[in-house]
Amino acid sequence: MTVRTPKLFVRSYGCQMNVYDAERMADALAPDGYASTDRAEDADLIVLNTCHIREKAAEKVYSELGRIRKMGEELGRKPLVAVAGCVAQAEGAEIMKRAPVVDLVVGPQSYQRLPELVRQARAGEKPVDTEFAVEEKFSSLATPVRPLATRGVTAFVTVQEGCDKFCSFCVVPYTRGAEASRSVAQIVAETERLAAQGVREVTLLGQNVDAYHGEGPDGRDWTLARLLLRLAEIEGLARLRYTTSHPRDFGDDLIAAHRDCDKLMPYLHLPVQSGSDRILKAMNRRHTAADYLRLIERIRHARPDLALSGDFIVGFPGERTEDFEATMRIVDEAEYASAFTFKYSPRPGTPAAERDGQVSEAAKAERLQRLQARITERQIAFQRSLVGARFDVLVERAGRHPGQMAGRSPYLSPVQIEGSTAAVGEVVSVEVTGSGPNSLFAAPAGGAREDVRMLAEATA
Ligand code: 5AD
Ligand code: SF4
Repeated sequence: MTVRTPKLFVRSYGCQMNVYDAERMADALAPDGYASTDRAEDADLIVLNTCHIREKAAEKVYSELGRIRKMGEELGRKPLVAVAGCVAQAEGAEIMKRAPVVDLVVGPQSYQRLPELVRQARAGEKPVDTEFAVEEKFSSLATPVRPLATRGVTAFVTVQEGCDKFCSFCVVPYTRGAEASRSVAQIVAETERLAAQGVREVTLLGQNVDAYHGEGPDGRDWTLARLLLRLAEIEGLARLRYTTSHPRDFGDDLIAAHRDCDKLMPYLHLPVQSGSDRILKAMNRRHTAADYLRLIERIRHARPDLALSGDFIVGFPGERTEDFEATMRIVDEAEYASAFTFKYSPRPGTPAAERDGQVSEAAKAERLQRLQARITERQIAFQRSLVGARFDVLVERAGRHPGQMAGRSPYLSPVQIEGSTAAVGEVVSVEVTGSGPNSLFAAPAGGAREDVRMLAEATA
């Protein structure tokens, strides 16, 4: 008798933490024989790893469930269907009422219990597990058990989860719960394992990552900066990044790390959300536009070539034209290299959803378009400013055409290197020969990695 290997298909939506969690779910199910597939049609278990941050993201889940139901009918075989992630956390058993195709619902804090939940679902029960047990999740999900060889040279490592900031528009404090940090020892062990498998770049993840305060080997709480400096000692690891930060939690030692730690890349995602103090207050951000700009100035003083990215929400309740104009202004004042823009989406259970002064869809659309156009302009100008610069690229894969290798700049922009003989995983010095809106084109260059800092200082 041959036993068929059960196949797992995970589709992740939303943030990078879901990408990380998807790997951990696959790890949790590997001892039960589950192998990953990238074809939903072949799967015995389909997991939708959902996002609840904006309405559109949540609605996608229900349309996908509709497609899965149809696919099952066409195949004449029903795979088990699990809904995980933040929609699972927020809606729980409601999901099964609305979409009976769903066999199990599991929140982000319960993935270590997936094997048991899958067994229950197989037995015809319809388990729903949305309990908050972050500590348990961290301790039992710490060890990736699947071979890492196929995971590439970059990886995510979750260092903290949840958020205590309670921005008035945001569901994260409700879906991911209170802020909790993993211990330094756990993170070091996981990162060492990744480095030993050939991972060269690690991005530390957390919803509010600069609030990190995990227990260090000395029994004290360590800051994110201290953690980064410790991880920079790991052999084989060439690059460190972290995301996403809140301006209020950005410590002086983190600024210093941007100056002192070569492995920490000069790229920072630091959302401001709005340029208007009145709206920032209503958003409960607890800082002003000027506070934000001052902070950016200090970070740039430490690391002059820093590329800044951010998030913006347009059409927050009560946002008037002059508030929006302040947002347009801060895009220039902060000199973003790139940014993400969103229309405000009222999320059930958040304070802002109940407020008067909801902005019309038409005004939101118009503001979004204007803001996006300005950010695209800035992004193109930033990319262009790098032409002629030299910097290191971490080679991640072969390029689209023969003789091309593809990787990323220190600033996270994709780079196509022409005529490169470099291997995947190598860090090579390049000279930028051309720029598009999203990627850079480059040729191999010898030596000098300091050029780009000088260039940034010269153009500052
Ligand atoms: N509506 C629109 N955008 C939102 N974000 C978070 N909540 C909402 C919402 N209710 C955006 C913020 C945040 C990013 C991850 O998503 O800009 O930084
Ligand atoms: Fe949401 Fe970020 Fe605000 Fe936390 S800091 S509530 S995750 S927007």
